[in-house]
Amino acid sequence: MAVAEKLVHLVAAARPNFMKVAPLHRALAPLAWCRPVVIHTGQHYDYNMSAAFFADLGLPEPAAHLEVGSGSHGEQIGRCLMAYEQLLAAGPRPGAVVVAGDVNSTLACALAARRAGVFLVHLEAGLRSFDRDMPEEQNRVLTDQLADLLWTPSPDADANLAREGVDPGRVERVGNIMIDSLEMVRPAIEARRAWEGLGLSPGGYGVVTLHRPANVDQPAALAALAQALARAAARLPLVFPAHPRTRARLERFALLDGLTAAGGLRLVEPMGYLDFMSLVTGARLVITDSGGIQEETTYLHLPCLTVRPSTERPITVELGTNRLVTVEEIEGAVDQVLAGDWPRGRVPELWDGRTAGRCAASLARRLGAA
Ligand code: UD1
Repeated sequence: MAVAEKLVHLVAAARPNFMKVAPLHRALAPLAWCRPVVIHTGQHYDYNMSAAFFADLGLPEPAAHLEVGSGSHGEQIGRCLMAYEQLLAAGPRPGAVVVAGDVNSTLACALAARRAGVFLVHLEAGLRSFDRDMPEEQNRVLTDQLADLLWTPSPDADANLAREGVDPGRVERVGNIMIDSLEMVRPAIEARRAWEGLGLSPGGYGVVTLHRPANVDQPAALAALAQALARAAARLPLVFPAHPRTRARLERFALLDGLTAAGGLRLVEPMGYLDFMSLVTGARLVITDSGGIQEETTYLHLPCLTVRPSTERPITVELGTNRLVTVEEIEGAVDQVLAGDWPRGRVPELWDGRTAGRCAASLARRLGAA
């Protein structure tokens, strides 16, 4: 095998990507046949949305930074596509490109890699919310169609791909890599005790994260959500590390002061991985519209209230601790958790902290290195 074929680009773009790429980098780095490097597209760039995760997860400095930044979807995808195409053309040419998840950079880099004829792998393939209006759903479907190798986390993902006519020979179920990240730094997470700095005790508070356009971009929807959170916070103290997008909308719609003043609700800056996961492990429940947190809470047997009409991770509802709720249902669901009326849930198969190892073995086989 030529030396250049051993280079593997691990594309990382936004907060939910960093924890997926970190265990994979750690699994590939010691292998003699492989030289994994991180390519940062720059979709997320604030310290606590990006660099904090590199530090917390032991990710190396990116080999290249595409500096895509914020913008409309078209701008973000377009800039990323152009910049990554140029990087691939400049060389050295990688033997494989791994893209993760469903953000705009995932799709853009998948397209650039495919056009350049580089072997393309999609980590966390096959998830579907069946809501075709979600940008993430469009990114998932298109990336899966482009990829040569699809690493799935669960049987529902395999079934979705089969239904879309994806050749089963391209699909390998490897499990959920987010669990690897969590286990990789679990002692550090446990040492953080993030609740202490907030004057809270384990089991005595809830954690909130919300950033989906459908929840935060319209004044009426965000106002209703803010009121529901204020009511929930009267029952259980809530810590809300607000995404920059959410904070900006709260300010713009003049909802920030009211929310800050709500008794029991603490609005804080976005947190790094260790602090955030520490806060979650000590929580009584989580209220979220995130993708990954639905999985982390299922793994930790923590009640999760997902404020969305659909989920691309149905296994967290079927087996785990996740329930989809409307804004109106939040308060009642919090009461239900506090009354102890919530399933403990089961952890899906292959969510065992060994996914990155299975990915490394799979890639070695596919590239002819094993
Ligand atoms: C993106 C992903 C979403 C993911 C989320 C996690 C897409 C289509 N969406 O949504 O799937 O769940 O990231 O956070 O790719 N901003 C900052 N600092 C940053 C990053 C963003 O201030 O480091 C601001 C931007 O200026 C913008 C807003 O946050 O106003 C949205 O950021 P963007 O990355 O475009 O989309 P997200 O809503 O974060």
